[in-house]
Amino acid sequence: MPEAILTNADLEKMVDTSDEWITTRTGIKTRHITDSNTATSDLATTAAARAMEAAGWKPEDVQALFIATVTPDHAFPATACLVADRLGLSRVPAWDFAAGCSGFVYGLIQARAFVESGIFDRILVIGAECLTKITNWKDRASCVLFGDGAGAAAISSQGPGGLLGGYHWGSDGAISDLLVQAAGGSRNPATHETVEAGMHYIAMNGSETFKHAVRAMRESCLLALEMDGTDKSDVDLLISHQANYRIIDATARALELPPEKVYVNIDRYGNTSSASIPIALDEAMRRGIITPPKTVVLAAFGAGLTWAGIIVKWNG
Ligand code: ACO
Repeated sequence: MPEAILTNADLEKMVDTSDEWITTRTGIKTRHITDSNTATSDLATTAAARAMEAAGWKPEDVQALFIATVTPDHAFPATACLVADRLGLSRVPAWDFAAGCSGFVYGLIQARAFVESGIFDRILVIGAECLTKITNWKDRASCVLFGDGAGAAAISSQGPGGLLGGYHWGSDGAISDLLVQAAGGSRNPATHETVEAGMHYIAMNGSETFKHAVRAMRESCLLALEMDGTDKSDVDLLISHQANYRIIDATARALELPPEKVYVNIDRYGNTSSASIPIALDEAMRRGIITPPKTVVLAAFGAGLTWAGIIVKWNG
């Protein structure tokens, strides 16, 4: 996480909002924000270096690196190439992909496929975002939601750690306009007019996105459990994308999980998009909440719209 913290009290001075509204409608109290010298690759490099350290990997061990992000340093080259270079990974395949807030789970499913097929055996999967760089600080409906951060996982056929199990992923581009950064790409290249119209900022229909999110998260979890052959009564922990406490709560209810089996840190970090699940996973591990054996459900949804869920079995 970047160091600087933006509180709800700070936001009260910037837009017509209140700590009470933000807390009751979203569960967010504070979020971490990057300074003008820090970009997504900086956060991603730190997170990936820590994942390598935790896995005991040297640079020459890593065979591929990919980053889920909607806020790359540049449209091109891929942020993953910059991060790979800074980590000293010599000439490995490195690429970015955009799956909104579902990105990290999309990344785990891709990594599982690469390891199973034998194409790569040691992969760094990163979720990294600087959403506050594309936040419209005059739009109270969205600016209170977002924060910056990064997380990473080292995925290989060798333990210890979690076994990637059943999964479900999907998308629906027919409702892509609910959550969009409209300008800056080939549809609306950046011009003075697009900047003046604020089209380079995140635009979101929050209440519609909310409804789809609740349905998609529930579906992802239940279908991932079905593929895994695991009953929801055997789930020890839900780590969901941290977008809104009410969405996390609705997902927990679908799995009939009590609050103590649901990891929540949205109060401190807000919505960090593809970084939210690896950040929460890292915290839960460091706090000793994921002590083996544990069955953990990861679930997310985001721009696209996209959604994804995966079961992770911690056996040792
Ligand atoms: N402070 C005070 N009032 C506010 C604020 C605010 N910050 N924001 C909106 N309001 C007002 C609205 O203007 C509206 O007022 P009105 O009734 O007078 O018109 C009222 O509060 C209710 O607004 P809603 O948008 O209906 O509020 P809702 O309960 O839906 O909460 C929220 C809004 C928090 C955005 C919610 O819809 C949400 O979390 N949606 C999902 C967001 C999400 O998860 N996005 C996907 C991930 S992001 C990514 O992929 C990059």
